[in-house]
This record gives sequence, structure tokens and C-alpha cells, in this order.
Amino acid sequence: MMLDLRKHGLFVCVLYMLLPLLCFCATFVPSDNYLIDCGSTTTTSVGNRNFTSDNFNKKLLSTQQEILASTSSKSVSSDADESPLYQTARIFTGSSKYTFPINQQGRHWIRFYFFPFIYDRYNLNAAKFSVATQTFVLLSGFTAPKNPVMKEYSINVTTDTLVITFNPFDNSVAFVNAIEVVSMPDDLIVNEASSLSPASTYSGLVNQALETVWRVNMGGPVVSSGQDPLHRTWVSDQKFLLQSSLANDFSNVAAVEYVSGGATQNTAPSSVYGTVAQMNTSGDPNVNFNVTWQFDMEAGFQYFVRAHFCDIVSKVLNELYFNVYIDSLAAAKDLDLSSQSNNVLAVPYYKDLVTPLADSNKLRVSIGPSTLNKDNPNAILNGLEIMKMNNSIGSLSADAASGAGGISSGSSSSKEKEEVGKTKAVKDMDSSICQRSNIAYNGNQDENVSSASAVQFEASAVDDLSGVSMSRVFSQLVKSEGR
Ligand SMILES: *[C@@H]1O[C@H](CO)[C@@H](O)[C@H](O)[C@H]1NC(C)=O
Ligand SMILES: *[C@@H]1O[C@H](CO)[C@@H](O)[C@H](O)[C@H]1NC(C)=O
Ligand SMILES: *[C@@H]1O[C@H](CO)[C@@H](O)[C@H](O)[C@H]1NC(C)=O
Ligand SMILES: *[C@@H]1O[C@H](CO)[C@@H](O)[C@H](O)[C@H]1NC(C)=O
Ligand SMILES: *[C@@H]1O[C@H](CO)[C@@H](O)[C@H](O)[C@H]1NC(C)=O
Ligand SMILES: *[C@@H]1O[C@H](CO)[C@@H](O)[C@H](O)[C@H]1NC(C)=O
Repeated sequence: MMLDLRKHGLFVCVLYMLLPLLCFCATFVPSDNYLIDCGSTTTTSVGNRNFTSDNFNKKLLSTQQEILASTSSKSVSSDADESPLYQTARIFTGSSKYTFPINQQGRHWIRFYFFPFIYDRYNLNAAKFSVATQTFVLLSGFTAPKNPVMKEYSINVTTDTLVITFNPFDNSVAFVNAIEVVSMPDDLIVNEASSLSPASTYSGLVNQALETVWRVNMGGPVVSSGQDPLHRTWVSDQKFLLQSSLANDFSNVAAVEYVSGGATQNTAPSSVYGTVAQMNTSGDPNVNFNVTWQFDMEAGFQYFVRAHFCDIVSKVLNELYFNVYIDSLAAAKDLDLSSQSNNVLAVPYYKDLVTPLADSNKLRVSIGPSTLNKDNPNAILNGLEIMKMNNSIGSLSADAASGAGGISSGSSSSKEKEEVGKTKAVKDMDSSICQRSNIAYNGNQDENVSSASAVQFEASAVDDLSGVSMSRVFSQLVKSEGR
């Protein structure tokens, strides 16, 4: 059917999908979006998001004693948009639960904000506690660091409610300053990745709880949660470089070219793909070295690593070939980004990797030139995400003696399957069908995912069809929507 359409000089392609599903995708609307400012008595605005008090929704929290704590001491990390969230906290003297009804099963971010202060007779600096869902231990024997910290997890919720339990250790209390439980796009983390050792396919990510350990923007500045469509924070890479003189930063954010079927802005925004660390060759064609970043992490776990690439440095196609290593293991050999992206430069690309069980507290990521480009040795990296995977007893903490209480059961709801099907249908649709001219957009403005508003594209020209033009069309539509 798609191929038939190609034969017509002028055609209309009608997409019975919603714009947010199609586009690249500042418009992802999470079906579950709990933003809770714990212990607060008012709603707190963070960028364009409102965190409501857990005092307003009594059904959410079950705890023995109502202790709403607050401090006037300003949290130290003033650069964060989130700093207002650290001014109040809930204190728990016994086991306490937040119960979140889940609209749509699937992966969710769970974010906890912690900033210990002294309130009344409670010194939160000494608080030691565990935090668990029905299925996973997220923290155990946890004591918050002196400075504010946000802990981010990603869990595929397969139950109708997500119960988060805080358990104080012995004579201690537990506390939390703020909580987020927010749906993620289903296709952001898929079931499979490349296993590094032995080199094979890792299958089973859908059942993994992940804890974000590092999320780094190579060659560029901090990308704050307000600048990321999924409210992730990306830190700058400088402090992780083993030898910073070997790396050279470059940026061209405007060059980033998202194409249909590839990485989207939800994978990482252009502020990440548009900055890069490359080899500092100083123009010498005979150089041969690796640029290496080193990250602290915890031994005894496997890690899910997502490496982001976007060739904004090459002038022509097929000029850049390079190798990527994690510790001493080959993560990618002779990587040619041009061929990964249908011969278009500056297309975002990412590679998902799973490390073997770590026996060291350091993880090194290196890039170096391939022997295939002798004249112009170079290698690049644009971004990196390192996530801890739960161990065999369902814990992200080595302290936990046993897994969490309940067992998750049941498969994904039919509603979820429908959404996954929709997204797939979009991908399957040959992106080359629609062309640039005469675009008419008749979609309605609301973002109701279940209402199938028809988006119409009228297009002429059938030859020279490329996914790139499609992506331009869509990003233009998004822009013209004023989002
Ligand atoms: C947040 O709250 C403010 C003040 O009540 C309101 O004006 C604004 O529309 C809210 N924003 C969102 C995204 O709900
Ligand atoms: C969540 O888990 C269920 C059951 O294993 C699976 O069918 C579904 O695809 C998973 N969803 C995501 C987004 O991983
Ligand atoms: C790149 O290398 C040259 C020569 O090795 C050195 O002088 C220069 O400082 C390096 N650049 C950076 C940004 O470190
Ligand atoms: C780069 O690192 C890898 C992995 O440790 C190593 O095998 C390779 O020899 C290194 N390349 C150079 C040029 O140092
Ligand atoms: C993580 O926990 C899930 C669910 O309990 C389990 O299926 C999986 O095997 C665990 N992961 C590892 C690496 O042991
Ligand atoms: C979304 O669409 C459904 C079905 O058309 C409708 O019942 C529901 O009220 C709509 N929700 C919103 C928020 O518009």
C-alpha cells in the first residue's frame, strides 16, 4: 500500500496517529505524572512543573506520625531548578508507604530528592533507612550525603499501583524531600542490548530496575532538567576525563538532524547530540591514542551503558571511523556513523551495552581511531548514560540481604500494547512517503492520546525521498504548534 502511494505524483498521506507519537518529541505527555513536594504545605513550582504537597492528597501516604519538616537553611546546590524542593521533608519514624495508582503500566521514572537537615529533635544527617517498591530494593542502609542529592530510577511498573516503602533502620528515622513518579516513553529502553562479554545479545532489560549513576553531556555544558523533554539532568564531562588535553570540545547544536526511526529528542535533546568531545589531534595525521573518561561506580553489579553519537565534526560522509571501549572490552569497532544513518551526517545514534559483573569501582569509557581512517584519525562521543542494573535478588543496593516484599505479576495491559502498536505502526510506515511541499496540518490541538485525530500531509514529488525531509516536516509542525 505504501509502495502504491509512491507511484502517484501527488498524494495525501493521512496518519491516524497523534503528533506527539510521531514527532521527535518535545511533546511526550506522561500518563502518570506524580510530582510530590513532601512535607510541604503549599504547591512548589519547579520550572514549568508544579510539585503538590503530600499533605493535600492524604490517600497517597500512609505513615504513623505526621511530621512535616522544614528548614530555612538554603540547600547548597543553588544551580539546580529543583532547589525549592529541598526546603521541606517528610520524616518517618516507622515503616511508611506512598501508594501511587498507575494509569498506564510500563517504564516509569522514580526520582527521590534528599537533603538532610536538623528539624526539631530529628537530625536527618544521621537518618539511615531503606526504600523499596513491591519488587525492588532501591536503597538500603542509605544515609543522605550532606549536599542535596537526587536519585533517579527507572522501573517497568506491571501492577496497578506502585507502592514505595520507606523503612527506618533500628533507632533511626527515614525521610524524603520530594518524589516523582512519571511515565517514560515505552520505546526509550527496549528489551535488548549488546552484551560486552561474552559479545552477544543481552535480552531481558524490560525486567530490570535501573538506577542512573551518571548521565553526561560530552564536550558541552550541563543540560538541566528544564531543558530536557523528560526532565533528565546531564552533567558536563570535564571532570571525568583522565587526560583532558587529549580531548577537544566542539559544538554545533543547529546541525543535529533527527530522522524518523532513529534516536529522538526523547533519547537525548540536541543540546546533548550537538556537542561532542573528539580527539585533540592538533592536525597531526600520525596520532594514535584513546580519549578516556573514568567513572566511579559500585562493584558487584552489571551496568547498562548507553553511548550517544552524532557526527557533527565531519565535512563529508564516511570519513570518520572509530573504536569505542568499555574498560578493555570493545564496545564498537570501526564504527561508521554515516552508514548507521542512511548516509546523512549529524544524525543522532546511540548504542546500548550491558557490562559484565563489575569487579572494580571504576568504569572507563574510551574512544580511539580505527585503522580504517589513516589520513584523518579521529573519534567522538556526544553523551553517555550509565545505569546500574538490579542484582539477582532484585536489589540495587549491595547492603540488602534479600529482595523486596511483593512479587510483580501480570503482563502489560491491552492499552499499553495498543500504544506500542501505534508507535510501531509509525515506524513501519515508510518514512520516505511524505515530502516537503504543501503541508497541510489538520490535526487538532489537544494532546489526548486516545483520540485519533487525523494528521494530514499533502505532498508532491516522489523521487529523492528521504527520512530527513520527513523529520524537518515534523519538527516544523511541532514548532508551528508553538510547543
Ligand atoms: C502551576 O501552578 C501555577 C500557579 O498555581 C499555575 O499558574 C500554572 O498553570 C501551573 N502549571 C502547570 C504546568 O500546571
Ligand atoms: C514491561 O514488562 C512487561 C511484562 O514483562 C512487558 O510486556 C512490557 O513490554 C514491559 N514494558 C516496557 C516498556 O519495558
Ligand atoms: C591539544 O594538544 C596540543 C598539543 O598536544 C596542546 O598544546 C593543546 O593544549 C591541546 N588542547 C587542549 C584543549 O587541551
Ligand atoms: C585504547 O584502549 C583499548 C582498550 O583498553 C586498547 O586495547 C587500545 O590499545 C588503546 N589504543 C591506544 C591507541 O592506546
Ligand atoms: C533483576 O530483577 C528481576 C526481577 O526480580 C530479575 O528478573 C532479574 O534477573 C534481575 N537482574 C539480574 C541481573 O539479576
Ligand atoms: C480523550 O478522548 C476520549 C475519547 O475520545 C474522551 O472520552 C476523553 O474525555 C478525552 N480526554 C480529554 C482530556 O480530552
